[in-house]
Amino acid sequence: MSMDELVNLADFEAAALPRLPAGIRDYFRGGANDERALAENRAAWERWQVHYRVLRDVATRDLAVEVPGGRIDWPVMIAPTAYHRMAHPEGELATARAAAALGTAMVLSTLSNTTMEEVAREARRGLWFQLYVYKDRGITRELIARAEAAGCGAIAVTVDAPVGGQRERDVRNQFAYPADLPMSNLLPQGPRYATPDLADGGFMGYVNRMFDPALSFRDLEWIAAQTRLPVLVKGVARPDDAVAALGHGAGGVIVSNHGGRQLDAAPGTADVLGPIAEAVDGRAPVLVDGGIRRGVDVLRALALGARAVLLGRPVLWGLAVGGEAGVQRVLSLLRHEFDVAMALAGARRVADLDRSLVARRGERPR
Ligand code: FNR
Ligand code: LAC
Repeated sequence: MSMDELVNLADFEAAALPRLPAGIRDYFRGGANDERALAENRAAWERWQVHYRVLRDVATRDLAVEVPGGRIDWPVMIAPTAYHRMAHPEGELATARAAAALGTAMVLSTLSNTTMEEVAREARRGLWFQLYVYKDRGITRELIARAEAAGCGAIAVTVDAPVGGQRERDVRNQFAYPADLPMSNLLPQGPRYATPDLADGGFMGYVNRMFDPALSFRDLEWIAAQTRLPVLVKGVARPDDAVAALGHGAGGVIVSNHGGRQLDAAPGTADVLGPIAEAVDGRAPVLVDGGIRRGVDVLRALALGARAVLLGRPVLWGLAVGGEAGVQRVLSLLRHEFDVAMALAGARRVADLDRSLVARRGERPR
């Protein structure tokens, strides 16, 4: 099948799944426990309806936004996901090239198969580094210093994984990351850090052995003090945590429940974004991810107060179907949908997307 026959992100998922070995497929698609949070992320966006405007002259539209580290041509960035070479041999290099071609930035996972230095050379429209905080603070500090030296525009520290979520698909499959694909950023620390194996508990064993469950707001201050880069806190689900993060050195927050892979009873991010953005009140950028699959979801997120959104699994589906070209097509389909949604909602620029544009089904717009 040619990629031209794939006309939306769901088509990419359907085309990607049968191409992947079962263990990898389930690792990519899965969520925690009963996968309620995973489903809720989708359902929550769909509850928000768009009370569109007419007669607003939408003949020309400007989709660009300012995010930490620079300007992107449209408000969708690549979320950090581990192990892109499980989806395609070119891995993160393919992803970074596609992001650059579509005028947007990428967040590189700590657990990438390509070093941040190599990816930085391809990421012409911006690269952020996603940080997992190792119990070993020397390693953590080294990762931050390398990200800054490589030219990353921001650090996104992930705080919703003090312990590994219980992904039962992975337990059943006895999933382990392939031994021949190292976590390249950790190669200098040796094989114990760079190649977790099943005997050591696979992926969940690695998280629980390496990442610091004692992480606290004081550590956030410590991280912010290590670098000149803005530090965004990824995994926030409550207004009070967002405000506290800003008080402890964060330069922004990413509203996220890790794509439904951590706490299964978490609310859909669409339902907590608005209150968080209102509490932050413009003092710092608020981004969001989880279940963004349509251009109109991007519009909903911006109307609820997000500066930009991040896209997780669909990037992996694009990689699996067609490498760099596949990710390019995923991004261009979503960009086109967002552009059409802007026009149909009567918005010429992202600043036109205000809170009165959206209301939950059955509720009146503000
Ligand atoms: C992730 N996510 C993630 N987050 C993070 O901070 N570091 C990481 O290494 C990973 N790895 C990862 C792997 C896979 C396979 C998935 C699906 C997700 C979470 C990711 O950044 C993001 O929050 C969600 O994926 C967003 O939801 P959607 O777009 O996948 O629904
Ligand atoms: C995951 C980790 C890598 O969600 O963040 O699989």
